[in-house]
Amino acid sequence: MLHWKELKEESEACVKCDLCKERTNVVFGEGNINSKVMFIGEAPGADEDRTGRPFVGRAGQLLTKALIALNLTRERDYYICNVCKCRPEKNRTPMEDEAKACIPYLRNQVALVKPKIIVCLGATSMKYVMEKVLNNSKKFPGIAEDMIWREALKTGTMKITRDRGKWLRIKNFSIMSTFHPAALLRDENKKKLFWEDLKNIKEELESFN
Ligand code: URA
Repeated sequence: MLHWKELKEESEACVKCDLCKERTNVVFGEGNINSKVMFIGEAPGADEDRTGRPFVGRAGQLLTKALIALNLTRERDYYICNVCKCRPEKNRTPMEDEAKACIPYLRNQVALVKPKIIVCLGATSMKYVMEKVLNNSKKFPGIAEDMIWREALKTGTMKITRDRGKWLRIKNFSIMSTFHPAALLRDENKKKLFWEDLKNIKEELESFN
């Protein structure tokens, strides 16, 4: 495991997949590295690629504002990053090999932050982070019998519409997926459920204080 400075430097020099060819900046992550909650998105968009900062575009601003409404600020209350640190062209979904090449950086970030709560933003983050946690959690007593995870455990796959908003509580942390804020920009109807999920996350966070 690397410490922050070395990890960031290594990611900034990364050539493990083709996304490095088109990037302006590696978008490593930012926020409070000692916070209890960590948000994980999919991959940088154009604004993030240009600035080197996660979630600063339209979707990011929506998320930031919603969290501020809950009195949660990036500087003080959470750490935020993505599964992929480089922008896929035209904001396409990262390919499996791109995500897999990048995930060691994310694992290292999680190991350094040691969050009590992980929030996956959108289906891609849910697939590469929460689905893996769920499938590994079979070895923890109780989870396999938990009815809310029955379908997901049976198939080994999660669905954002079916599985968002549900906590998976395992040994050291709780994890939940919610809609990606970009999905709210396309479909206003998702806003209500997204807001409910965020309020739930805030409550969970308070339970650790
Ligand atoms: N969407 C993401 O998933 N991450 C960002 O940083 C910006 C948009």
